[in-house]
Amino acid sequence: MRPEHGCAITGWGSALPSTVVTNQDMMTLFDTGDEWVHERTGIRQRRAADGPFVNPKPPVSPPGGMGTTAQLAAEAGRSALQVAGLTGADIDLLVLCTTSPDQLVPATSSPLAHALSIKGGGMDINAACAGFTYGLVTSAGFIASGAERVLLIGAETLTRITNWADRSNAFLFGDGAGAVVVEAVPGEPALLGWDIGVDGSLQPLFFSDHGGQGMTMRGQEVFRKAVRVTVESATKSLERAKVRAAEIALFVPHQANVRIMDAVAERLGIPAGRVASVIEHTGNTSSASIPIALTDAANSGRLAEGDLVLFAGFGAGMTWASAVWRWGGGPVR
Ligand code: UT7
Repeated sequence: MRPEHGCAITGWGSALPSTVVTNQDMMTLFDTGDEWVHERTGIRQRRAADGPFVNPKPPVSPPGGMGTTAQLAAEAGRSALQVAGLTGADIDLLVLCTTSPDQLVPATSSPLAHALSIKGGGMDINAACAGFTYGLVTSAGFIASGAERVLLIGAETLTRITNWADRSNAFLFGDGAGAVVVEAVPGEPALLGWDIGVDGSLQPLFFSDHGGQGMTMRGQEVFRKAVRVTVESATKSLERAKVRAAEIALFVPHQANVRIMDAVAERLGIPAGRVASVIEHTGNTSSASIPIALTDAANSGRLAEGDLVLFAGFGAGMTWASAVWRWGGGPVR
């Protein structure tokens, strides 16, 4: 361990498939409406790498082809490396957070590492929609243990496991990827406080079986639990970081439902103007949603050196994770 070494996010990037699926498009599949979906979720459209609007006739796209989790992850990863001024050869560890891997074996991080010319090490993390925040805590831990540079990516092709006949939840999900480079730097640690958790007794609330119908969810129960566990987890992270909610410059929540995001921000006491939100255009992209929203905020100039950022996510499992991070501190290249 080398606690004297800090870490910094020095690159960021995102990728979305080209196919846009609007709420109106959803009306061709089942009885629904744009206003109903928007009022309930804040979503107007999502991007799809698969599903009926991309591949009207199964079988779905083959592993390794266009529109896979690895392909989206590679595009986001390349953008993050470019912003950091690095190449894959500089990376000690690739961490891919995904709940929609391209194959059962090997981990999707393996072909992804090949695509990005990474030789240092690679692994997948599946903590569902809490995955990216689990990955951020993991990355900071590897840096504290001696790694110099970690490429952390959240990437999903949820449209491959969406039950397109289920009008109770099919409109929620979308595909995409977001990535950050986490680097060792001199100085103070950037990860000021964190919390992770899992409650496996809640597995029946949200699951997808091998060869099954796709994602099955008890929406209202997930909603209620999500608000509670996210607030509790974020409160623990803030306490451990010795940071007050009023000091948070940007809250980057998992983008599951704008009503959940608003309820969590309100209970924590974070003003709506400090919440990063892309859900209207992306839907719920699970592990990818936080790094996509972070990239959007960083590219829009919403983050300054020294800003305190709160990340918080929850997902199937049920899992949850949160982290308080001090932005900036990267090397000048
Ligand atoms: O990553 C994370 C995991 N998931 C989540 O975060 C999802 C959490 N849950 C939710 O976001 C919400 O529960 C949903 C958006 C999924 C659903 O919203 P809701 O306010 O809980 O609606 P509901 O399921 O209670 O349905 C209300 C009504 C029902 O009609 P009745 O029984 O009141 O007459 C449904 O039949 O809306 C009806 N309905 C629809 N109407 C139009 C259900 N699906 C649709 C639809 N279009 N697609």
